[in-house]
Formats: sequence, structure tokens, C-alpha cells
Amino acid sequence: MMDILIDVQDRFRWISPAALEAVAAATGQSRIGVEGVATFYAFFSQEPKGRVTIRLCDDIIDRFAGMPEVAKAFEDELSIKFGETTPDGAFSLEYTPCIGLCDQAPAAMINDIVVGHLTVTKVREIAAALKSGARPESLVSDRFDHLSPHERASRMVHNNIRHAGASLLGPVPKEAGLTAALSQRPVQIITDLIGSGLRGCGGAGYPTGKKWRSAATAVAERRFVICNADEGEPGTFKDRVLLTERPDLMVEGMTIAARAIDAREGIIYLRGEYAYLKPLLLETLAERRAAGLLGRGIMGVEGFDFDIRLQMGAGAYICGEEGALIPSCEGLPGEPKTRPPFPATRGYLGYPTIVNNVETFCHAARILDRGPEWFFNMGVERSHGTKLFSVSGDCLNPGIYELPFGLTVWELLDMAGAEDAAAVLVGGPSGTMVARDMFNRRLGYGDLGTGGAVIVFNGNRNILEIVEYYMSFFVHESCGYCTPCRVGNVFLQQAVAKFRQGLANPEDIDYLRDLSATIIETSRCGLGMTSPNPILSTLDSFPLVYSAMVKPSEGGIRATFDIQSAIDGARKLAKRRSHIFDSDFTQ
Ligand SMILES: Cc1cc2nc3c(=O)[nH]c(=O)nc-3n(C[C@H](O)[C@H](O)[C@H](O)COP(=O)(O)O)c2cc1C
Ligand code: SF4
Repeated sequence: MMDILIDVQDRFRWISPAALEAVAAATGQSRIGVEGVATFYAFFSQEPKGRVTIRLCDDIIDRFAGMPEVAKAFEDELSIKFGETTPDGAFSLEYTPCIGLCDQAPAAMINDIVVGHLTVTKVREIAAALKSGARPESLVSDRFDHLSPHERASRMVHNNIRHAGASLLGPVPKEAGLTAALSQRPVQIITDLIGSGLRGCGGAGYPTGKKWRSAATAVAERRFVICNADEGEPGTFKDRVLLTERPDLMVEGMTIAARAIDAREGIIYLRGEYAYLKPLLLETLAERRAAGLLGRGIMGVEGFDFDIRLQMGAGAYICGEEGALIPSCEGLPGEPKTRPPFPATRGYLGYPTIVNNVETFCHAARILDRGPEWFFNMGVERSHGTKLFSVSGDCLNPGIYELPFGLTVWELLDMAGAEDAAAVLVGGPSGTMVARDMFNRRLGYGDLGTGGAVIVFNGNRNILEIVEYYMSFFVHESCGYCTPCRVGNVFLQQAVAKFRQGLANPEDIDYLRDLSATIIETSRCGLGMTSPNPILSTLDSFPLVYSAMVKPSEGGIRATFDIQSAIDGARKLAKRRSHIFDSDFTQ
């Protein structure tokens, strides 16, 4: 379903009521079901879009890097505002959340082409070229069609690899991990992974070997391996670099996983914002099939059959959450599921499925090659091996750093040239904001756990502006299923705005904490469980920022925060019971 709707959107530039009917008839689905998918994803449109759609990243990093001037230049050059399409149907202008180019902000997607380091001058050149009829591809090269997929990707986007570590970005021998895996029994592969201490690199840090063991031991006729290449956490762009420079290693890791859990089918779920990497990944898969590294009888081993399809996403951050990613692969709206059951026992199409991050699969292949002790001996207790950190914001050297776990924030900031950092957001908005007096804290699950995003802010940045932006991000990206997340985050965002305006009173700080706790406790998935983190961690790290903005007043903002009455009203609006009252949730 996703593939069909992506095709319709690309070809007609919108998904019209007639197209919904036609897709429903052709697929045997209900019209309302197709409409549910078409309206869920930001890249599907219910009104005609321009032949060229420019999606400007409006992440806070881009804003601080000059995005407002760039936006105005686009508006001036195309004579439309953001959210509009030119009357001749040539151009649309839209804002979009983080597109994974924070190290080269301000950045934009122009159809499937991406451009970074935007300036007013560059925008004028781009607009002039496009208005004269040039294809967006010609912005990359006049010879675009003759370039290899890798050449195209690397001309569009700089990798910015600042430090190559021992596991992923240094020299990697071809297929050494898969060769080693095939000399072992599947159970031994899993034992090796458990012994290595590898934890998932997508943010939650769950032990990879244990996840594979759950899937391998579940009784089932089919099993699936899914690579999560959705990379939507603002400030994270490490997977972009691995997908560009180590696609074979990632697929090798997926193939090892298939061997370990006895899966025959795999999926790479690639975020819509990385559509420019699709040809590169398709080429990688085709080359591996031709080389006998995918398909039937892999590497000549009879009965070892495994192949992978590529599933594109369509602009929904929540689809990075594995419980939402799976329905998206199934052609449904990306709404997270209540857990348990976990995907490892009941995932794609109801079968045991392991979902792992791009980086996790790459490490897995290296561990099979070099051995579990090699990996275990790097890093620190509870966080072994190396980790890719995506560093962006106020620093001289934004980019990718592969370093053993356990270094301090200071050490990373030194490497990145960020001596005047005043605040660092570790792990993106769902992570932890640390102040300068905490820069001796260590990056790793014993202290600051992270999927890799490290966003640097200097002393000129307004902490409350940053927090308000991230709350607006979560409001925008909530799938809306549970009321505390859908409504509570709006209240939190409004509350932060009132703090910024000096309209809060001292008790409202407690109220921020209470409301945050309610949202965390009653949300169904990780988005709601972490969305108040920008507030909570800045309340801890920068208490004066809040207290300086309050003044004793009659009402303050508290009255706005009656979450229970909000839940009642929203429940009636949604014509269904609130999730927080569902018995399966309270068990
Ligand atoms: C809102 C939300 C967004 C997420 N986005 C991603 C993502 O873009 N990439 C990713 O690998 N994991 C993401 N995750 C974590 C996944 O749910 C899952 O834990 C991960 O893909 C498992 O792989 P790992 O064990 O290798 O980390 C997200 C989680 C949440 C709650
Ligand atoms: S917590 Fe938020 S994103 Fe997650 S299921 Fe509930 S409404 Fe959707």
C-alpha cells in the first residue's frame, strides 16, 4: 500500500479522491482504509502539490544556522509563502522536521534531491535554475544520469566523518563477518552477540543478542529481519553516513541475523527523507544477489535462503518506533502497538521479527569477524564497543565521530571544537540536556545513554526557545492515539511559551513536572514516554532559566493544565474511550 501511494503521489503530485477510490478497488481494501494511510503520512498530499516541492528543514539547528533568511529568500524568489503552491502548479514550499542534515544546515529537500549549507545567494541560484526549467537533479550535476548512485549521494551530501573508529568507519574486510557466521551454528552466533555486550544503537539500548534469541526460539513458520533506517530523531544523522558508506556491511549484518534466527525475508525501512539513498541501496541489494550473497543458497550453503526488500517511509517520525514501523511495512498507518507482545515474538504479519538499527547490524557483522571479546573490551561497563556520535550545532567540526563508549561530554566537545558550549543535548530531544557543570558526565548507558545525537548550544541560545521548539516537534509527530500524548504535549508546549513570555507563576514549575509525569506514565509508546524530557531535563540542568521567568500572579498557567478534563473532551471528540482507561494498559 505504501509503495502504491508513493507512486500515486509522485506521478500526480497528490492523492485525489478518485485515486483513493481506484487504489481501494485495485487492492480490495476499503476506501476509508486507504484514506487512513494516505492522511497519516506527511509526504502524501490531499491537494495538488507543485511539480517541484521544496521542503525546508525547520529544525532548531537550521533556525540557528540562518534558516529564516533562507526561507524568506525562497518565498521572495517563488512569490509564494510556505504552505502554498504557485498558481501554475510549478512549485510548492513546505517546512519539514529534521531531514538528517544537521551537520550541513540549513538544508532542504527539492523533490528527492537534497541540498545543504543553504544561503540566500544559493537559494537565488537554485530558484533561477528551477524557474528556467532545469530539473532538480541538475542542481547536483549536469551529468546526474551518468553518475553512479554513490557518486550522486556523495555530491549531494558531505559525510563529515571526523573520526573513524575500530568497528565501523575504519577498514572493513568484505564479508568476513558472514563467512565467520557460516562456519558456526546459528545458536553460536547469538551466543557471540550476547558475549560482545552489543546493545541496540537506535536509542533504547536493548541487548541485541537477547532480542535475536527471543526471535530464534519463538515457534513459527516464518521469521523476519527488519533494518530500521528511519533515523528521525532530530540531530541524528549517523545512519545516513553508514547507508552511504557501509551499505554492504549493514546488509551483511542483516544476513547474519537471518542465519541466526532462521529468517528468509528481510526489509530495509528507509525514511522518505533519505529517498536520495534508495538507488544506492537497490544497487547494493542487486549486486549482492548477483554475487550469491542474497537469494537462494547464500555463499553456496544449501538451504540458506534470504532476500531483502526496500520499504520507503513517507515522512512520519513515529514510524521509527518499531511498533509503528511494522504496520507501516504492512501498508497501514504507523500507529504503535500496545506491548507485549514484542515484535521479536509477534511482529511483521504476526511473525517473530527482529527490528534493529542500521548501526546495530553493522556492528553485528564486525563482531562475527573480530570476535565478541574484541568488541567487549572496548568501551566501559554496560556500554561496550564503539558508538557513532552525530555532533551538530554550535561547534567548529560538526559531523560523525566513531569513539569507544565512556568518553566524557568534554572530551567529545574538545574534538568537535565546541569550547564555548553552554548546553549539550545528548540523545536528541527525547534524551538529556546537560549544562556546562555536567560536561564531565560520560556517554554510555551507565550515565548518558544515547542513540548518538549530540547537539551543542552556546551561551547565546535561549534554552526556553529550544525547549519550546522540541515540544512543538513532539506535538506535530504524536500519532494522536493516546490522549495524554496528543493533548498533554500541546499543554506543555503552551506552558513553555508562557514561561518565555513571563506569564507563569512559581507553582507552575511543579505543574510542569506533574503534567510531564502523567504523560510519561500514561502514554502507549516511547514517543509519549520521552516527549516531556526537554522540559524535565532543562528543569534539572537549568532551573534558573525557569525561575527567572516566573512572577507571582493570580492565575498563572495552571488552569490550562487540567489533563483529566482535557482527556474527557478529547475522548468525546475522538468518539472513543481513552487509551489510558483500556484494561490491557493498566495490567
Ligand atoms: C518515537 C520513536 C522513534 C524512534 N526512531 C527510531 C529510528 O529512527 N531509528 C531506530 O533505529 N530506532 C528508533 N527508535 C527505536 C526503535 O523503536 C527500536 O527500539 C530500534 O529500532 C531497535 O533497534 P536497536 O535495538 O538496534 O536499537 C524509535 C523509538 C521511538 C519511541
Ligand atoms: S504515546 Fe503518542 S505517539 Fe505513542 S501511541 Fe500514544 S499518541 Fe501515538
